[in-house]
Amino acid sequence: MIEDMLRTPAAVQDSERHTAHNYHPLPVVITSAEGAWVTDVDGNRYLDCLAGYSALNFGHRHPTLIAAAHAQLDKLTLTSRAFIHDQFADFCRELAALCGKDLVLPMNTGAEAVETGIKVARKWGYQVKGVPAGQANIVVAEGNFHGRTTTIVSFSTDSDARADFGPYTPGFRIVPYGDLAALTEAIDEHTVAVLLEPIQGEQGVVVPPEGYLPGVRRLCTERDVLFIADEIQSGLGRTGATFACEQEGVVPDMYLLGKALGGGIVPVSAVAADADVLGVLKPGQHGSTFGGNPLACAVATEVVRLLATGEFQRRSAALGERLHAGLRGLLGKGLVAVRGRGLWAGLDIDPALMSGREACERLMERGVLAKDTHGSTIRLAPPLVITEEEIDHAVAQLTAVLAG
Ligand SMILES: Cc1ncc(COP(=O)(O)O)c(C=O)c1O
Repeated sequence: MIEDMLRTPAAVQDSERHTAHNYHPLPVVITSAEGAWVTDVDGNRYLDCLAGYSALNFGHRHPTLIAAAHAQLDKLTLTSRAFIHDQFADFCRELAALCGKDLVLPMNTGAEAVETGIKVARKWGYQVKGVPAGQANIVVAEGNFHGRTTTIVSFSTDSDARADFGPYTPGFRIVPYGDLAALTEAIDEHTVAVLLEPIQGEQGVVVPPEGYLPGVRRLCTERDVLFIADEIQSGLGRTGATFACEQEGVVPDMYLLGKALGGGIVPVSAVAADADVLGVLKPGQHGSTFGGNPLACAVATEVVRLLATGEFQRRSAALGERLHAGLRGLLGKGLVAVRGRGLWAGLDIDPALMSGREACERLMERGVLAKDTHGSTIRLAPPLVITEEEIDHAVAQLTAVLAG
């Protein structure tokens, strides 16, 4: 196609004209998608190796999820929680069962689930643990990413995420990720929770040292502190298990879930915990107009049912082996590190070769979409419906990019 007949350049410009520039997207304008593939406005196809930061674990437009959404759209979309709707009970019961917890509290975005977890932990601290009013603290990790609200960025260590958004919310202590001694030191009698990602996604798919998560679990139990696992990106099949914590034999007191819970169709997040924790909330103390709406529940119930089969977790574990084996083969050939678990990988590109952004641009030209983070790192998180051949294709394209 001749250059000036392409629709992408004008569409890219158009997309920037009336929006705040809080993102720096790759110059690809997507118009349709199915499974692991997306198509741009010029008809080019790309293998989606980001999957909406794990929001598309089941691929684009999974038929079961689309059917559930269509059916619900024709019946009932929103009631608010002022009334009860007929999709609510199944969703809450089935998600609670998947998590092995008594209760769930549905919200919409991941950040709202994190905010909910923080509020619940503080209230639990005052009402159950007996922390004096206004004294609660929560311990978090360096390099964390839990969302973008003013409270959450207050304990971010990423200056882009945090700078100039103060005054900051107090009540958080930051310790190095993976350092059990530092965590032990930071916890005091007013600590109500430890809030961690079991694998730090945004930081570059950073897996903590073996024994760290079980150590955190032990410590929290000993010191009467809630262990809150932010599984918004790591959970729901991404790492080869329902939860990344599970792979370390750890059960947190509270799961924070989001992204894939909405099946790539609607924003759905949730907090799951036992009644002695989530039961501290009473009517009027927390809520959301859209949280737990009928459309969200109809889709998310099907997401939970897909996960209950175990098929996606098994695919992620098996195909993840193939992906990581392929990527390890590139160590010393343009890659300086490969991390991750299941169909989730963080790759550090040799900075002498090119930046992560440059690598993603070149991958895009070769029909593979991925996202850079922190300079020289690329994150790969393809939909769990990806095939062996497609994984090999993605690794082959990366090999070609690194070979220049
Ligand atoms: C671990 C983690 N927590 C929370 C969030 C925030 O989710 P949302 O963007 O839906 O608010 C993200 C988003 O990337 C995340 O990766």
